[in-house]
Amino acid sequence: MNIVMINGSPRKEGRTGKLTSIISKKYNLKKIDLSELVLPIFNGQEEQNENVNIQKLRLQMENADAIIVSTPEYHGGMSGALKNAFDFLGSKHFKDKPVAILAVSGGGKGGINALNNMRIVLRALYANVLSKQVVIDPSDFVSEGTGLGENASFLVDGLIQELKLYTQLSKKLNEEWAASNY
Ligand SMILES: Cc1cc2nc3c(=O)[nH]c(=O)nc-3n(C[C@H](O)[C@H](O)[C@H](O)COP(=O)(O)O)c2cc1C
Repeated sequence: MNIVMINGSPRKEGRTGKLTSIISKKYNLKKIDLSELVLPIFNGQEEQNENVNIQKLRLQMENADAIIVSTPEYHGGMSGALKNAFDFLGSKHFKDKPVAILAVSGGGKGGINALNNMRIVLRALYANVLSKQVVIDPSDFVSEGTGLGENASFLVDGLIQELKLYTQLSKKLNEEWAASNY
């Protein structure tokens, strides 16, 4: 099962990057880190297709069976870096794939708007976004950002378990569909 996790924060020392590292290590997932994989601003010009980082992003996404997207909440939405990355992608990267979403807030009950914002955009990309979702607050990090507290770990475990279940189901259904005469 090839699950790819995106860090949607452009900040090298951002908490979303820390969360992505914690989760990708714990569950042995591939990572796309938008603080390292720097993309140009999408302009629709043909020459952007030659950009190595864009090619890398597209290939990793195309090969994924399922995707986890983690974004910081910036001004009540997902990060601009993440929306820009989505603009380089299309339904062929998301269609029939389960997607789990997480938001990292600055606290004060933030995060939900970034999740809803991602849902709207991911629907337009034909992603099957799970109902379950997780907000991580600064207080959820322990051990100087290298781990998560008990409650947050429990929520993340539940999210990953559900994603794996839907990935298995979706692979099985796609295989059956391909083998049928319909
Ligand atoms: C430009 C900007 C806008 C932000 N807007 C919000 C917000 O609307 N709601 C919120 O909960 N936190 C907000 N924050 C705080 C971030 O969510 C917080 O820094 C969190 O750690 C995730 O961002 P990071 O991965 O870049 O660290 C904002 C931070 C920045 C830099």
